[in-house]
Amino acid sequence: MKISGNTILVTGGTSGIGRRLAEALHDKGNKVVVAGRRQALLDEVTGQNPGMIGIAVDLSDGAAIETFAASVKSQFPQLNVLINNAGIAGVEDYTADSIDLTRAYSTIQTNITGVVQLSAALLPVLRAQPQSTLMVTTSGLAFVPYPPGPVYSATKAFMHNWLDALRVQLRKTSVEVLELAPPYVQTELGGPRQVSDPRAMPLEEYITEVVQILENNAIENGEILVDRVKPLRTAEKDGKYQEFLDMFATMHD
Ligand SMILES: NC(=O)c1ccc[n+]([C@@H]2O[C@H](COP(=O)([O-])OP(=O)(O)OC[C@H]3O[C@@H](n4cnc5c(N)ncnc54)[C@H](OP(=O)(O)O)[C@@H]3O)[C@@H](O)[C@H]2O)c1
Repeated sequence: MKISGNTILVTGGTSGIGRRLAEALHDKGNKVVVAGRRQALLDEVTGQNPGMIGIAVDLSDGAAIETFAASVKSQFPQLNVLINNAGIAGVEDYTADSIDLTRAYSTIQTNITGVVQLSAALLPVLRAQPQSTLMVTTSGLAFVPYPPGPVYSATKAFMHNWLDALRVQLRKTSVEVLELAPPYVQTELGGPRQVSDPRAMPLEEYITEVVQILENNAIENGEILVDRVKPLRTAEKDGKYQEFLDMFATMHD
């Protein structure tokens, strides 16, 4: 992926990784469109980054995705980078007598169905460009699950697997398929305490390293991996899978 001169749509651009990545790419000379549900935050991010455009959409709503994709296609026919970054997380307790799956279902809807649907809707636009990128934010948990959040982890493993297949299908097209797999990062994904959790990577450090990887074209087999996530990526190969599983089990307090 070239670092400037693109027209980029970043979903989940209202906060955390998506917002800072959108701002970094805006600063590098790209036309950036951010999407999310919270209009006040869209107004804030576009207000602070002149030229950036915000569009409100709920990516857990299939009909809203179709309307949104049609509007993106007509407003930005030159769109050549789609960054599917929006996501939610949650935990489920399968030892409970009554297991609440409400959050699990919306996580599947947002992290899987919404990504597949939006990608399918916008791939024809991406394929029409001479050079384009389809990116999805997965997680280090795609490679070793976090036991308290089985569905969240599985949505990321699903997307990793899906991206590998898509990369092969699309290899004779202009579309490069990339996976952004963050480690644990200081955002509000898992609640307000995560922003200052010392075990999580500071957001600015994460974004700086990601931009360096993009600038240096240091993408590994389609994967954007900062150093902190690499032990998870190779855990199975390194014989460390069970060790990480056991360590994760103690993290949820
Ligand atoms: N932080 C970590 O430790 C970590 C680690 C690995 C992977 N990730 C992944 O990184 C991505 C970004 O998460 P984050 O950590 O930056 O957390 P975040 O600050 O909570 O950001 C999540 C973003 O997704 C958007 N979003 C959620 N549901 C949506 C919906 N139904 N429709 C439209 N937008 C929606 C949110 O916007 P609105 O609320 O405005 O809709 C927000 O902008 C996620 O895919 C997450 O799974 C994060």
